[in-house]
Amino acid sequence: MHRMWYVLVLIIAMWIAPAAQASSGRPAAKPKAEEPAVSIFASPVEVRAGRAIAEQTCARCHGLDGLSVEDGAPHLASQHADYLYAQLKAYKDGVRKHARMRRSIKMLNDEALRNVAAYYFSLDLPFTAAAQQGLGAGAQHAAADINPEGAGKEASVGCASCHGKDGNSILPGMPSLAGQNLQYLVNAIKAYRSSSRKDAMMRPAVALLNDDTIENLALYYALQEPKTSPMNAEGDAKAGEAVATACAECHGADGNSAKPDTPSLAGQDPGYLATATQAYKDGIRDHSAMQSIVSPLSEDDIKNVAAFYAASSPKGGAARKPLTTFQWAERCDRCHGIDGNSIDPQIPSISSQGEQYLIKAMTAYREQDRGNTIMRAMLKPIKDVEIDNIARYYAGKKRKSVVFVRVPCK
Ligand code: HEC
Ligand code: HEC
Ligand code: HEC
Ligand code: HEC
Repeated sequence: MHRMWYVLVLIIAMWIAPAAQASSGRPAAKPKAEEPAVSIFASPVEVRAGRAIAEQTCARCHGLDGLSVEDGAPHLASQHADYLYAQLKAYKDGVRKHARMRRSIKMLNDEALRNVAAYYFSLDLPFTAAAQQGLGAGAQHAAADINPEGAGKEASVGCASCHGKDGNSILPGMPSLAGQNLQYLVNAIKAYRSSSRKDAMMRPAVALLNDDTIENLALYYALQEPKTSPMNAEGDAKAGEAVATACAECHGADGNSAKPDTPSLAGQDPGYLATATQAYKDGIRDHSAMQSIVSPLSEDDIKNVAAFYAASSPKGGAARKPLTTFQWAERCDRCHGIDGNSIDPQIPSISSQGEQYLIKAMTAYREQDRGNTIMRAMLKPIKDVEIDNIARYYAGKKRKSVVFVRVPCK
């Protein structure tokens, strides 16, 4: 309850400080943090002045009612004034880049920016037809959420006869896929599909798979718990340990590779490890770095190093399980408020915001084009399809104009 009050007082305090400065014509004394803030609301005069500016300058893109008239421009109605003002300054100072926005506000002074921010904050964001549609679609969509791991499992049925039900192979000479590095799996399957890696059994199994299915399959296998191969190795694992020192840099000292595109070897089928290593040596498998490293190895070295890695314990677990839209939203709501209705004046509400704009904003953070460290870090690993789903989800949430809720006194 204290937080609510704090927030209310804060928004007001931030309002009054610059306003006092502008109207008195001389710098006001900076309020000390401990000093109690005084409540003040934007006056009708200021809101009306903001409306005049909106009418003249902003309405053709953002609408006079704050409901944007173009996809790339955000709705501004009922957005926190502090946030709007901070963004306007960011455009003006060139911190946030957008040529048209920048041009539009270039001539406006600080007071005008504050007033127009107050005006847009004073408006209700109507529950638009688009948002209503979004509500239906968003709810449906989130209910039938994308489940790439599940889709991968379904697609793996045809692979199980050779690679084992959960990707732990039980046929001698057949590679296990469970717990393998995700990027390596994607690359390997694509290589068979394009025939840049040749194998008579693999080619027909993957020739017709599309990119999405390949990614789902790879995710499914990467998430499975790897087991140490039950096959007997021909070589001597103790002797293989010395050979393996030349491999540790890329495959990890124990054969668990930390590089996403380099395969882990720990616990892999020993026959497969030996055949694969020999294939690089003979140039059948095309990879110049691997070829130069294994070319000095004798037949025995190869068998021994295969035995060493086959006996090593596989770790797996490097792949990230993708979050569902609801799981993402739980995280976003921590800052953006319940259903995207922020109670922090510094943090924008994202409920009922235009879907296309939300996609654009999230993509900009992900591509590190828009400067906010929190948002950048949060969205760095996110995929297009996840962005689309989250955007649809919040576009379909109702905007609440009253977000400061007073808790009754005892
Ligand atoms: C020519 C069209 C255009 C005009 C005129 C315009 N804007 Fe914008 N505005 C945009 C677009 C497009 C964006 C999104 C830019 C981006 O992606 O950074 C935007 C973004 C904003 C944002 C950021 C909002 C957010 O949610 O982060 C604010 C605030 C804003 N405009 C306020 C205004 C105000 C106030 C005016 C009038 C003084 C105005 N704009 C005039 C097109 C316009
Ligand atoms: C008829 C048996 C068979 C089927 C079915 C099969 N594979 Fe394979 N797979 C193999 C063989 C044999 C190899 C090793 C080929 C080689 O040496 O390049 C292999 C290799 C692989 C590799 C490379 C492993 C590594 O460590 O480099 C991947 C990944 C793979 N398969 C995925 C799949 C997927 C996904 C499916 C189902 C869509 C599938 N396989 C179906 C036999 C099969
Ligand atoms: C410079 C890094 C590097 C070093 C050092 C290295 N490897 Fe590799 N290794 C790779 C990469 C990258 C691949 C995947 C190549 C591809 O896509 O075919 C690979 C693939 C393999 C494979 C195929 C695994 C599979 O699942 O199909 C085996 C086996 C292998 N390496 C064994 C070795 C051995 C044994 C050594 C040491 C003697 C070694 N590697 C040293 C980078 C390295
Ligand atoms: C730790 C707090 C925090 C979390 C968690 C967070 N955000 Fe934000 N978000 C912010 C802040 C602060 C801003 C304003 C950043 C700026 O000035 O660019 C922001 C801005 C945004 C914007 C731009 C809004 C606009 O009008 O331009 C979008 C969209 C957004 N966040 C979406 C999300 C989504 C989706 C999630 C969850 C995946 C999320 N945020 C999680 C703090 C957070």
